[in-house]
Order: sequence, then structure tokens, then C-alpha cells
Amino acid sequence: MSAGDIKLSNTEFEAIKAKVYQLAGISLSDAKRTLVMSRLAKIVHGMGLASFSAYVEFLNRKADPAHVQEFVNALTTNLTRFYREEHHFDHLLAHVGELIKAPPRVSTGGRPRLRLWSAGCSTGQEPYTMALALINAYPALKRWDVRILATDIDTKVVETAAAGIYKSTDLAGLSGKRCAYFDHGPNGAVAIPGAVRSLVTFKTLNLMGQWPFKGPFDAVFCRNVAIYFDKPTQTRMFTRMAEFLAPDGFLYIGHSENLGGCDGQFKLVDKTTYRLTPHDQIKAVA
Ligand SMILES: C[S@@+](CC[C@H](N)C(=O)[O-])C[C@H]1O[C@@H](n2cnc3c(N)ncnc32)[C@H](O)[C@@H]1O
Repeated sequence: MSAGDIKLSNTEFEAIKAKVYQLAGISLSDAKRTLVMSRLAKIVHGMGLASFSAYVEFLNRKADPAHVQEFVNALTTNLTRFYREEHHFDHLLAHVGELIKAPPRVSTGGRPRLRLWSAGCSTGQEPYTMALALINAYPALKRWDVRILATDIDTKVVETAAAGIYKSTDLAGLSGKRCAYFDHGPNGAVAIPGAVRSLVTFKTLNLMGQWPFKGPFDAVFCRNVAIYFDKPTQTRMFTRMAEFLAPDGFLYIGHSENLGGCDGQFKLVDKTTYRLTPHDQIKAVA
């Protein structure tokens, strides 16, 4: 029997949908049936199991963390690229430019502090774009305490991201000036320069679980992530994010996303760019 011989019944598809929702908050539509088949059949076959039911039963019964993680990793969609939805990085640069001009409000060891979060960072292009854009625009930031937290539920993409090694084809569409921000090695390999990589801390984090950090963040990028969640899940997540944002910080979401009904806490200030409402800004200061 080959992986292609394993059929997916409606009941099995429903069980898989329920499992990934329970574990990751991901809502799979019926249109994702082929995707589920193609991504999971190989795993089921590789484990020597005869059916998807046996696989779901295995996940439910044994709760082996490695297999559960493999299941989640298989069902995430990790599409990303450097400078994706570029206007957000322009907006971030303008915001940080203002912070640099203003008297520093928070400092660690005497240094002005900048905290950014890329929530759902995939293979790292988003947080590295934040770091590359900032460090190349504002050399003064070298004297700042800059930390970019980059998190994702998928352990495989976090591993790739932390390595900071890409292919030259991953830079397709970038200007020559931006390509020069990267270290170019042999065989078309490109690397994030060490000084830039050191600004970013990668962690595996399920947005549905605990968030073991405090913030406040001067900017939160949560782009093209909520699109995989249903509305109540989006509302819960963005409501929580409001508590992690600095009073004058910004939340950036994907171009096809909305805040899932918690618009009361945020005010739209630019294209898919939000700030806390004045009421919530006061709460964040208190
Ligand atoms: C399409 S990528 C977006 C990457 C990047 N933010 C961008 O816009 O280019 C979506 C990412 O969200 C992550 N994700 C999905 N559900 C998640 C969850 N519950 N917690 C954390 N990350 C999640 C996926 O693993 C995936 O890497």
C-alpha cells in the first residue's frame, strides 16, 4: 500500500478539523480537504498506519508531543517573503523615527528600549525585514536596546528562521540596495548578517496558549495569521494583543484580515494598521 491509497472519509476529515482547531485554533474549511490529504497521508503511511482514523486515534490516545507537533506543523501554511506588504515597514520606520526624536521613556541599563513582536513569523522573513529596515535606516539604533520577538507554532519554520540562511531566489523582487543588506555566500546562499540576527529572538509559541512575556511592544506584526482562525478566536487573540501593546504602539495585520469584532479596542490609523483607542491607551498606561 502507498500513501496515495489511504482514503479520507468525511468523518475522518471532520475529526482532523476538530483536532487542529483544538490544538492550534486553526479552522480548516472544506476546501482544504486535498491539502489535508496530501500533507497527512505521507505521515500516516510512514507510521505504518492503515487509515486516518487510526492516526487521529493515535494522536488522541497517546498524546505524544512529537507526533502532535508533527501534525500541527503539517497543517500550517507558512507562505511569507521579505518586505511583504511593504507599507507596514514604511509605517514602522516612521514610528520608530518619532520614538528616536522623543525623549526615551523606557530604558534598560541606561539605553532607550524598543520592543517589537512578529506573531506568526513563519520562516523569519517578517522579523528580519523589520530588523534590516530599522538598522539600515537608523544607525542610532545601534546604541538602543532593541529586541524583536518572533514566534510561531510551527517548530520547523522556527528552526529555519533562527538559522537565518536563505536562497538568493528568496530575494526575488527586492531592489539592489535591499539585496546588499544580506551576506551573499557561495551557491546562491544568502545570510542575515550576524548583527541583524542578534536583534531577533525566535521562540515556538502557540497563540492559543500562554504568552510568557510582558511587553509592552512598540509594534506587533500579526499578519496573515488570523486568517486561519474563526471570528471568536480572532476576537480573543486581538483582545489579548491589546494588552501587550504600548499606549502609542501599532498593530499591523494582513491586507485581507480584520480584527474579528474587537474593533472597539483599536482605531484604524492607516491601511491595516491599528492603534489602541484613547480609552485603551489610558488603560495601558495605568
Ligand atoms: C502565512 S504565515 C504568515 C507569515 C508572516 N506573518 C507573513 O505575513 O508573511 C502564517 C503563520 O502563522 C502560524 N500560525 C498558525 N496558527 C498559529 C498559532 N495558533 N500560533 C502561532 N502561530 C500560528 C503558521 O505556522 C504560519 O507560519
